[in-house]
Amino acid sequence: MSTEEYKPVILVVDDTEDNLDFLEFALKRKPFTMLRANSGMECLALAKSRRPDIILLDIQMPVMDGFETLEKLKADAATAGIPVIFLTAQRKDPQSIEKGLELGADEFLTKPIDTEELLVRVRMLLKLRRLETELERTKADFMAMLVHDLRSPLTGIKSVLEYFKETLEASNSLNQEQVTLFDSVNDSAARMLGLINDILDLSKLESGNITLDVQSVDLRLVIDMVTRDFRMQYRKKNATIEVTMPGELPAVLIDINRMGQVMMNLMSNALKFIGTGGTVTVTAGTAASVNPATGLEERYVKVSVRDNGMGIPEDELPYIFDRYKQASTARKTKIKGTGLGLAVCKLIVEAHGGSILAESEVGKHTTFHFTVPVSGR
Ligand SMILES: Nc1ncnc2c1ncn2[C@@H]1O[C@H](COP(=O)(O)OP(=O)(O)OP(=O)(O)O)[C@@H](O)[C@H]1O
Ligand SMILES: [Mg+2]
Repeated sequence: MSTEEYKPVILVVDDTEDNLDFLEFALKRKPFTMLRANSGMECLALAKSRRPDIILLDIQMPVMDGFETLEKLKADAATAGIPVIFLTAQRKDPQSIEKGLELGADEFLTKPIDTEELLVRVRMLLKLRRLETELERTKADFMAMLVHDLRSPLTGIKSVLEYFKETLEASNSLNQEQVTLFDSVNDSAARMLGLINDILDLSKLESGNITLDVQSVDLRLVIDMVTRDFRMQYRKKNATIEVTMPGELPAVLIDINRMGQVMMNLMSNALKFIGTGGTVTVTAGTAASVNPATGLEERYVKVSVRDNGMGIPEDELPYIFDRYKQASTARKTKIKGTGLGLAVCKLIVEAHGGSILAESEVGKHTTFHFTVPVSGR
C-alpha cells in the first residue's frame, strides 16, 4: 500500500493563461494536483471526465462566463456535488458574490490568489464534503434498517390474512362482502410491502450496499419472462404487447431479478398510461459507441419500451427519474403510484454499467431506452 497522501485535484478555470501559470507555479510544492481549463466549456468537460475535488472558477470569461458555467455544473448530477470557489477580481464585489451564492458557489477568493488562504479553504471544503458523505451514509443505513424491520411483520400479517381467507372460503364461511373486505386489506398490505421494498432497494442501491447476483445471459430471457407475465393485465385493458427482437443477442452480465424489476417497472408504467386498446412495443438490439475517455468502441445491448399513450410534457421529462417525482400524467390515471419506480430502474441500470433515458411527445408516445454493456469486452 502506498503511504503517499492523497493529493486533492483542483480544477482552475481562467481564460488568462498568465493567471493559470501563476497558480500552477504557486501550487507546485503544495499537496495538490492542478488541472487547467481556459474556458467554461473546457471546465464542464474536465469536471465530468476527471471529477476534481474542487473547482476554482473565474467569473469574467468570454463566451460562457463563470455564472453560466456554474449553472451548468449544478444542473448536471455528475458535477453538481463538486464544491466551487469563485474568483472575484475586486475585494468588494457584493453583486457577484450574491449571484454566485444563489447559484451554489461555496466560497470566494480575490485575485491575486493567496495560496495559503486557498489551502485553508480547500481543506475546509474537503472536510465538509467528507462529513456530508458520512451523514448521507448513516441516514441511508438507518432508513434501510427501519424499513427492513417493517417488512418482516408486514409479510407475517399478509400471510396470516391469506391463510384465514383461504380456510374460511374453503368452509364457505365468508359472504361476498367479507371476501371483498379481505381482498382489499390484502391489496393494501401488498401495496405497502411493494413500497417498503422500493424504499429498501433505493437506500441499498444509493449507499452502494447492493450486491448484484450476476450471470452471463441473453437479455431476451428477461424480456420474454416479464412480457409474458404482463399479457393478462394488458389483455384486460384490451391493449397489445408487441415484442421485436433479433434471433440472438450477445450475452450480458446481469442480475436477472434486478433487470426483471427494471422491465416490470417500465411495463407497468406503460400499461398505466396507455389508453384502452393501446400498444406497447418492446424492442431489443445491439448498439456501439466510442468511449471518449479511452477512444475504444464499446458494445451494448439496448432495450426500448415504447407506448402510444398520453406522453410526458417536455419540461417534466428531466425529473421523472427523481425519487418521489411524478409527472402531471400521474394525476390522469386511477392507479396510484409513489414515484419510486423509475428511480429504482435508474439505479439498477447504472449499477450494471448502463444508462437509461426517456423521450416523449405529448399525445403520441413515451419511450424508455436502457443499455447494458456486452460482457467480455
Ligand atoms: N409510460 C409513461 N407514460 C406517461 N407518463 C409516465 C410513463 N412512465 C412514467 N411516467 C410518469 O413518470 C412518473 C414517475 O414514474 P415512476 O415509475 O417513477 O412512478 P409511479 O409509476 O408514479 O409510481 P411507482 O412506480 O413508485 O408505483 C409517473 O408518475 C408518471 O407521471
Ligand atoms: Mg412506476
